[in-house]
Amino acid sequence: MNRTRALLGGLAATGLLLTAAQAEEADPAAIVAGQFAAGGNHTGVRASGAKGVCLKGTFTPASGAAALSKAPHFAKAVPVTARFSMGGSNPKVSDKAKPVTRGFAMRMSEASGDMVFVTISAPVFSTKTPAQLLEFLQVRAPGPDGKPDAEKVKAFSAANPETTRQAGWLNARPVPASFAGVDYWAVHAYTLTNAKGDTKIARLKFVSADKAGLTDEEVKAKPDSFYAEELKERLARGPARFDLVAILAEAGDTTSDPTVAWPEDQRRTETLGTLAITGIEPDATCDARTFDPVVDLPEGIAGPADDPMFAIRSPAYAVSVSRRAN
Ligand code: HEM
Repeated sequence: MNRTRALLGGLAATGLLLTAAQAEEADPAAIVAGQFAAGGNHTGVRASGAKGVCLKGTFTPASGAAALSKAPHFAKAVPVTARFSMGGSNPKVSDKAKPVTRGFAMRMSEASGDMVFVTISAPVFSTKTPAQLLEFLQVRAPGPDGKPDAEKVKAFSAANPETTRQAGWLNARPVPASFAGVDYWAVHAYTLTNAKGDTKIARLKFVSADKAGLTDEEVKAKPDSFYAEELKERLARGPARFDLVAILAEAGDTTSDPTVAWPEDQRRTETLGTLAITGIEPDATCDARTFDPVVDLPEGIAGPADDPMFAIRSPAYAVSVSRRAN
């Protein structure tokens, strides 16, 4: 708990510090332990996104981006370090697994600081509070037979129906043919502020230029690990591109609950730029530190102050880094 307190203390300057009462209730260290347990307690890996590929690329802002945010990353092209991953702490998870999120973390670097987004291949997260996440993970911890207790999971889902939305969404869609062949959402509501001080609330989405899913037959024919090789071949032919799109909120859209999707097709959108993934980097480039989506944001873009799932990510990611480094 002391280590957790120290990590939380480091957040004080950001204004996103959890209150002591919330920290007690949430305990990021317990959540991270739950993430490791649910994935089989592997060591030396991330608590989530354990299996993945480190990448490099460039983010080029769209001409209209500066009208929405004064972040310098929206004023000129910047270099990017990124990582695609499979959700969960099991480094042996199959690339064919369902309903598992694919992850896309990225650090856009600029002299004044970084802009980090850590996104998933679904528009919603699985839980709305850290306490609910802890329980979600605990009921999924494998028993002596290596499997979670199906009755416990069923009872938890019945009592917490919003925790089934992400899996429902993923199960209704094909297995992505490539890490680069699916869209990724930041799921939280961000506030964009321009140089005049005008603000807009938006959820952010990275839209793949080359979306493709596998048929059931194609899935059967694939080995358990094919994404890394597919990516190598794809990038040898040219960059993998994603448009960063801001989905603008309307009155009534929740900013505090990432289990609730906004009706995207009824919302105005603005393209903020294009992320081109150009090559693969050694794992060490991504492993040295974490992608912290809470702390590493420049002026001109801020995470939601009222979404407890956002604030808890920073201390949880730090616990995971310290655990995998030891
Ligand atoms: C709410 C939306 C969330 C999204 C979109 C998300 C997505 C991701 C992704 C893509 C990764 C892999 C990062 C990489 O490749 O380095 C990751 C890692 C991780 N996530 Fe999340 N996550 C979310 C919420 C949370 C929450 C609420 C917690 C815990 C309270 C959490 C704990 C972690 C941890 C501990 C890691 C490993 C970090 C590391 O060792 O570097 N995540 N997450």
